Amino acid sequence: MKHCIIVADKFDPEGVSRLQARPELEVLYEGGYKRDRLLELLPRASGLIIRSATKVDAALLEKAPQLKIVIRAGVGVDNIDIMEASRRGVIVMNSPGGNSVSTAEQAIALMFALARNTPQANASMKQGKWEKSKFVGLELTGKTIGVIGLGRIGKEVVRRARGLQMNVLGFDPYIPPANLSHLEIDLVSVEEILRNSDFITVHTPLTDATRDLINKDNLSILKDGVRLINCARGGIYNEDALLTGVQSGKIGGLALDVFTEEPIPADFPLLAFDNCILTPHLGASTGDAEFAVALESVDQLIEYFQNGVARNALNFPTVDPEAMDFLKPYFSGGEKAGRILANFLKGGVQSIHIDYCGEIAEYMTQPVTTAILSGALSVAMGDEVNYVNAPVFARDRGIQVSENKRVSESGFSSYVHVSFSAADGQKTHLQYTAVHREPLVVSMQGLPLEFKPEGIMLLVTNRDVPRVVGTLGNYLGDLNINIAHLELSRDDKGGTAYCMMTIDELVNPEALARLRSLDNILGAVQVDLR
Ligand code: NAD
Ligand code: MLT
Repeated sequence: MKHCIIVADKFDPEGVSRLQARPELEVLYEGGYKRDRLLELLPRASGLIIRSATKVDAALLEKAPQLKIVIRAGVGVDNIDIMEASRRGVIVMNSPGGNSVSTAEQAIALMFALARNTPQANASMKQGKWEKSKFVGLELTGKTIGVIGLGRIGKEVVRRARGLQMNVLGFDPYIPPANLSHLEIDLVSVEEILRNSDFITVHTPLTDATRDLINKDNLSILKDGVRLINCARGGIYNEDALLTGVQSGKIGGLALDVFTEEPIPADFPLLAFDNCILTPHLGASTGDAEFAVALESVDQLIEYFQNGVARNALNFPTVDPEAMDFLKPYFSGGEKAGRILANFLKGGVQSIHIDYCGEIAEYMTQPVTTAILSGALSVAMGDEVNYVNAPVFARDRGIQVSENKRVSESGFSSYVHVSFSAADGQKTHLQYTAVHREPLVVSMQGLPLEFKPEGIMLLVTNRDVPRVVGTLGNYLGDLNINIAHLELSRDDKGGTAYCMMTIDELVNPEALARLRSLDNILGAVQVDLR
């Protein structure tokens, strides 16, 4: 069956053609859908590609029960409710690489426009005027520019500003200074940027920390006549404060490509000022960027439906291919460990602790933790749970998850120890490793018990007395169920023993209940890992 892909917003034709060329995809594209029409089509959709026009909110997601993936062709995902998508198990990706250069160039173009009054001079000429003395500008060489946010676009801006022989001040608290040393700029505080810059440009997302970065309270510390540029997101500069600054002359020029409300209302106050240059969110609007972003997002979608790789996923663990090679058995082992242990606990899981020991501790293990959570939650939630929503469901259910990394303390060079606790104090734990790229459980409840977690598993706890294994064999034989594999372990002679069997057929619930009441049987859990 074909995967139905909706391209909801206006999209580069080459991107659409690439999708249409794939026999496994049915592509719906009409140059941008109205919301009502989109909602009608969504029940069929497995994939959705959007730009900035479509709002992916809870109401939209509700109409798309088959949806697996939403791709934002571009950077900003403020038009997607990622938490709601995660809760519904929908992967959200962006395609961030393709429009960085265009947006950086827009910031630089606006800086030139601010320095030389180009738009105003052009408008005056169009009115038949020749106002040479009115539009005296300034040189950029030797001036100071503050760049806030030194990610993809910020870095491109820095390179260009240095090429213009400007002094560059930068701020980005989330990138270690060592990783920015190649830019050869002064890394300073925001306050120093505000105090000392002739031009300030922001290249961060809009977050609680960046909202109102320039506001009525700190306006006064700006250099007199400062010129401000925003090609990132509206709201990073408080628009009321900008108005105050422009009215008072504190701000000498303003270039905004983005606004708190887009499109801006007709009475947007900054429209009235000649030294405010406004563009309608054009940062990424070049043929080159639209082409690059479209192809990037299409390639991501094809890769996902072809082999499950989720590049640039924002709510799904991404692992580089080399690490994947090593980690793969730990994913499948983790999911199965989660299911076995959650079945073992009679009450709900309250906390999960995972020790990553030996070589695996050198890898990014959070995706393995997600696999364990996903397996554990699937016991109660079935297919509803996946790697996207497992962390959200775990948090919603108040399950505490902790992990620790340590050196190997057993004969295995690499292994994972997983322990689950229930609210009533019950605890259960197992240890697994990878052998020949397959998961292998090597201990349960601290006792050596070696088995491949696969097929239908019957785990029986019993008193360590004679005849129990024979009784179990006869009991299953009477049900016409064959035992494919059997492992035994015990704590002390005559104490508690564990019998792990792989069986060929499921034991029905009534027969399982009767098995639990056989002499010397303390418990029995069946886990279907097929
Ligand atoms: P990015 O993720 O590569 O970089 C953003 C940087 O901001 C990161 O390095 C991050 O550490 C930094 N940051 C986050 N919070 C910060 C804070 N409080 N102070 C300082 N730095 C902080 O993103 P990008 O691709 O460079 O995009 C930057 C912004 O530009 C985004 O908001 C994006 O949506 C926007 N954008 C706008 C257009 C447009 O058309 N105008 C086009 C593309 C991107
Ligand atoms: C983005 O986030 O990629 C840009 O704002 C471009 C856009 O939305 O058109």
